[in-house]
Amino acid sequence: MLIDPKTWHQHRPWVIATGLLSVGSCAWYYSCSHGLPNWPGGSSLPGLTFGVVGGIIILFEMLLWWRKQVRTWRIGRTQVWLRAHIWLGLLSLPLIVLHSGFQLGGQLSTILMVLFLIVIASGIWGLALQQFLPRRLLDRVPAETIYSQIEHVMGQHREEAERLILAVCGPADGAEADSATATANGESSAVPLTIGALRTAGSVQGKVLLTNVPSAPVPDSEPLREFFRAEVRPYLQRGSAAGSALQHANRSTVLFQDLKIKLAPAAHGALAALEDLCAQRRQLDVQARLHFWLHNWLWVHLPVSAALVLLMFVHIWAALKYW
Ligand code: HEM
Repeated sequence: MLIDPKTWHQHRPWVIATGLLSVGSCAWYYSCSHGLPNWPGGSSLPGLTFGVVGGIIILFEMLLWWRKQVRTWRIGRTQVWLRAHIWLGLLSLPLIVLHSGFQLGGQLSTILMVLFLIVIASGIWGLALQQFLPRRLLDRVPAETIYSQIEHVMGQHREEAERLILAVCGPADGAEADSATATANGESSAVPLTIGALRTAGSVQGKVLLTNVPSAPVPDSEPLREFFRAEVRPYLQRGSAAGSALQHANRSTVLFQDLKIKLAPAAHGALAALEDLCAQRRQLDVQARLHFWLHNWLWVHLPVSAALVLLMFVHIWAALKYW
């Protein structure tokens, strides 16, 4: 959820309400503590009130997960739910801290407080990431694809590249031909080959289809095949995990320029297409990395929230039992 000048008017009422309720709660708590040797605890009137309200808020916070799971359960707009989740979640922090009377208490209540603080901190962290990662994705990954399709798309690119190398360099020595090359062998090299390449038009960058294949193998193009085998193929296949210099845009440019000098002009189009495919691999690696950061915090936020709710019920049961 984005909180910026454009969406601020939607958050303002929530910010004001959260601020006023927090200040009001602190003031009431403080006024009740007058003349007492210690801060009022969870069983005092304000402490109990904050505990009940804080507990209800925590249960409400969990409804966000429920709402996602039960597709038919669509009460209210998602954006309103998210705003309520964020601001009520933040309001629960002063309420629960006041409920505790600034004491960790026994083992159970200490664990409960630690879990609660982890949930709040991870929520704030996730919200902070949501403020800039999506924009970064938009800026740095114009070739963005559906996240789960990244490896499939890269597999297609690698096959395109294999066919391109076959067309430009001719069939490899018999023993070296691999399965992808064998598939491509079935095709005539005169058949035009389409390669998904990145092109910039004005400020817009996107994918276009190019035909880059010479009608017959280009003489002395063996360095291209070697470069493809040593650098491009592993990089297209495994991305940054391949440890290739191609993962760095500058070094990639240098490598491609060096190779260009060694090749006949007829092979330059194919070389440019390979460079494009490597550029796309770089972008999709960035996309995968940003996607990971945009979502990994939920692996903490969600399970710890679930543990918090479970332990909260044990805490309520124990508190009522020994009251
Ligand atoms: C007691 C407090 C809280 C509990 C129990 C809680 C629980 C949850 C749950 C169950 C989800 C759904 C996870 C999913 O997507 O499956 C969620 C999502 C989320 N929470 Fe919290 N949360 C709490 C406080 C907060 C706070 C204080 C913030 C931020 C200031 C926050 C920010 C978020 C965000 C940004 C999401 C992801 C929503 C989305 O984009 O789909 N949460 N939380």
